[in-house]
Amino acid sequence: MKILIINGPNLNMLGKRDKNHYGVLTLDEMNQKIINKYPSVKFQFYQSNCEGDIIDKIQTANNYQGLLINAAGYTHTSVSIRDALEILDIPKVSVHLSNYLAREDFRKVDLIKDVVDKVFFGKKIESYFEGIDFLISKI
Ligand code: DQA
Repeated sequence: MKILIINGPNLNMLGKRDKNHYGVLTLDEMNQKIINKYPSVKFQFYQSNCEGDIIDKIQTANNYQGLLINAAGYTHTSVSIRDALEILDIPKVSVHLSNYLAREDFRKVDLIKDVVDKVFFGKKIESYFEGIDFLISKI
């Protein structure tokens, strides 16, 4: 089973970002915890700060059995990432480390939620685990 995990802009800076919202783990530490928790799943981890690169990755994700994306700030702004996700016909979830709906008003706009199967948020790395569990249940 192959699952693609896409992390969007500034998630390469985890560990230096607001720990109350995002926790203390770096992205590498988070990825390692995911690998350790699901030894039978093959993960590809992809991080980019560029909208077009994320769209290219989504457009070529048909060979995975599931997609988990944290589009980060693009969640609230990117019609184009939304459109790419809408085309992709595999199980897909959107995740967030923080409870983005309880933060600033501009974060309450979520352009992605309607084109994924489910959204998991507010539980730091647990949001990712919940998303992966959901994908496994769909595969
Ligand atoms: C985030 C929430 C977004 O609003 C923010 O821009 C991020 C991270 C989260 O994981 O909580 O970069 O997606």
